Amino acid sequence: MYEKSIIIAIDGFSSTGKSSFAKRIARAYGFLYLDSGALYRAVTLFAMENGFISDGSIDVAGLQPFLGDLNIHFEYSQKEGRSLTYMGGRNVEDDIRTLQVSGCVSLVASQRYVRNFVDGILREHGRNSNVVMDGRDIGTTVFPDAGVKIFMTADVGIRAARRAAELREKGEECDLAAVLKNLQERDYIDSHREVSPLVQAPDAIVLDNSHMTFDDQMLWIADILRKKYGLEPIADEG
Ligand code: DC
Repeated sequence: MYEKSIIIAIDGFSSTGKSSFAKRIARAYGFLYLDSGALYRAVTLFAMENGFISDGSIDVAGLQPFLGDLNIHFEYSQKEGRSLTYMGGRNVEDDIRTLQVSGCVSLVASQRYVRNFVDGILREHGRNSNVVMDGRDIGTTVFPDAGVKIFMTADVGIRAARRAAELREKGEECDLAAVLKNLQERDYIDSHREVSPLVQAPDAIVLDNSHMTFDDQMLWIADILRKKYGLEPIADEG
């Protein structure tokens, strides 16, 4: 056991494969994985379904009183072999990944109140266990003391193609140009918002995975964790 928990913060642009990478690291090293984007997406779904978003603007004052009772959490599904996002008793894992939610999430995530709410959930989890978290401001705002900070990027055309393939695999109709536009818009809003914008932490290591496989990425992080903590994978993360 380590005296202090190890935190791996993975930030970067949309659809750079942050969560897939984070999940594999968590499996390989026995860390807890937390998907901060899923929390913002769940809040967004709630706001959309309850009429707090209309014509591209959000009624934060209306939304605020409900946040404390949303009970957004993650549950591991043995059947699916992955962790799923729940809001109360409802499995929202698929509903939060639609292009409609993606279209509104940056607006919701730019609200200070919402960010403080999500940060509280993330910090609570990071206190007691070794965690790998992915998001936009984990290494800058949520855990500025994280031991390992990674800033992920990749060519935007490659990211759009990957994301479109993922959506099609799930059976969602999608047009590559619309996905590209959504990514560019989110990159812009995420990097230019007033509260906790997406920026590379000065001590983050850049990972451009435009031409890397998952296995390349695992070798890359294994080297970092071995050198810094003497850690070796405890499981075949495959
Ligand atoms: O990682 P993702 O694409 O699921 O995240 C969805 C949105 O949530 C993203 O467009 C920006 C926002 N987000 C954020 O502002 N800060 C985070 N730590 C994680 C996500």
